[in-house]
Amino acid sequence: MAANVVDPSVTAAPLALPERVPRHVAIIMDGNGRWAAARGLPRSEGHRQGTENLRTIIRAAVEFGVEILTIYAFSTENWGRPRREVRLLLKILEMVIDRELRELHSNGVQIRHIGELDGIPPGIQRKVIHACEYTRHNTRLILNVAFNYGGRDEIVHAVRRIVQDGIPSDSINEDLIASYLYTSGLPDPDLIIRTSGELRVSNFLIWQGSYSEYYATDTLWPDFNREQFLLALIDFSKRRRRFGLTAAQVEDDHDLSETLPS
Ligand code: FPP
Repeated sequence: MAANVVDPSVTAAPLALPERVPRHVAIIMDGNGRWAAARGLPRSEGHRQGTENLRTIIRAAVEFGVEILTIYAFSTENWGRPRREVRLLLKILEMVIDRELRELHSNGVQIRHIGELDGIPPGIQRKVIHACEYTRHNTRLILNVAFNYGGRDEIVHAVRRIVQDGIPSDSINEDLIASYLYTSGLPDPDLIIRTSGELRVSNFLIWQGSYSEYYATDTLWPDFNREQFLLALIDFSKRRRRFGLTAAQVEDDHDLSETLPS
């Protein structure tokens, strides 16, 4: 830990950005419903506040130098929620594109969609495709929006396409499978954050997260602010990643992720 980093519960001194910032951070944004219920508000208000918070965290990711931010906005299982809530979450996706695209673009954010476009209403599909096209040359932050995303579903689709492409079985290895995933070409997440105290993976990046560091906080997503995000990055900077090796093999300042096969 850098000398000037202090526990915020002891003093209100500002936190310092650690030297080692994760390249790729993924977030399970959980707790919108409970945030609303705790205030006697409808769940929709929790999602609205959660969407506001997303702006804060995207800005913070740019500020902290995170290269890739992956957010879990809607899972393949979320279709089972009440119809009104599903409609609202689709509407939020559309609204975020309509209202935020220009600002995201001017801040150098490249939007990518991970998940199945099929199943999303055609008008919103078109907007998603447009947002990805419009921002494709931006390099400051890659924002992967996982919408209609499921980790198992992703692997099923990858296997289908491998078979359709006639890949011989002896050519199938981990790199090949990774190249058929939605995240093809991107490094695996270094850090996966889950808010709201739940300790589950929930079908999120189950292939890519094999050696990710996990960080769970009781804070509900709408309350997960810039400082909380920074605390997660500081926590990450203190982890010693071993990738299956022994502690003795892992030199303190050696970033193993650069030497291991992706
Ligand atoms: C989980 O909280 C949250 C979601 C399923 C939706 C996350 C969506 C946003 C934060 C808005 C941004 C969305 C887009 C499309 C960019 P929950 O509803 O499961 O909360 P609970 O567990 O407390 O009920």
